[in-house]
Amino acid sequence: MAELKTLIAGNWKMNAGGADGIALAKAVLSGATKESFSCELLLCPPAVVLAAVSHVVDGSPIATGGQDCHAKAKGAHTGDVAAEMLAAAGATYVIVGHSERRTDHKETDAIVRAKAEAGHRAGLVAVICIGETEAERDAGETLAVLTRQIAGSIPAGASAANTVIAYEPVWAIGTGRTPTIAEVAEAHAHIRREIGGKVAEPALTRILYGGSVKADNAAELLKVANVNGALVGGASLEAASFLGIARAAG
Ligand code: 13P
Repeated sequence: MAELKTLIAGNWKMNAGGADGIALAKAVLSGATKESFSCELLLCPPAVVLAAVSHVVDGSPIATGGQDCHAKAKGAHTGDVAAEMLAAAGATYVIVGHSERRTDHKETDAIVRAKAEAGHRAGLVAVICIGETEAERDAGETLAVLTRQIAGSIPAGASAANTVIAYEPVWAIGTGRTPTIAEVAEAHAHIRREIGGKVAEPALTRILYGGSVKADNAAELLKVANVNGALVGGASLEAASFLGIARAAG
């Protein structure tokens, strides 16, 4: 398979939404400038500081992204943010279908697909999140859940250039628990197969692993076949740990 550029993405979630977010972006930029990693770095701050964070990293190889978007380009949707607005704030990526949105906001595969399509419409790379719950894994349904989410969440027109898949087992998010290396390999190989026919150039599409990625387990996870990067929550909130993961990626 062709060498894909590893993507290390920080999902700040509902944290670092003020001066702390600007300081975090500056610290990541300063570390990345000193070390010049070969992986690509992406920061996904809360929407309220997206423009400011984009300004901090402007002119550097560090990209920014939104954590969610509305499916429509504009209109009477109080509190929502359009993909076009993320792009105007400097973003080149948008995360859609994170399990916290699927749970907290009852987002279905169809909603996630519409949001991914909105991201594409706005010229953004959609990071489409999928992953099984603990109950689904215990019931032996992991691969079937991934198949269903891939079938339902990836819009027509998806390509390696505008789409990234993030495999995030729900039970591994924020828990300090991770699947075994064999389980990660099985899930990612399955995703690689299943996106054939849904994404143009599936072999060139990056598949990230997310769920309790830290500086000390990143190297092992990133070595797994079909793991082309990481989507990092907690460990992206401190520059040192986020940069440690980037270092592990090489
Ligand atoms: P943690 O890295 O905190 O487990 O979060 C993972 C995640 O949900 C990233 O989107």
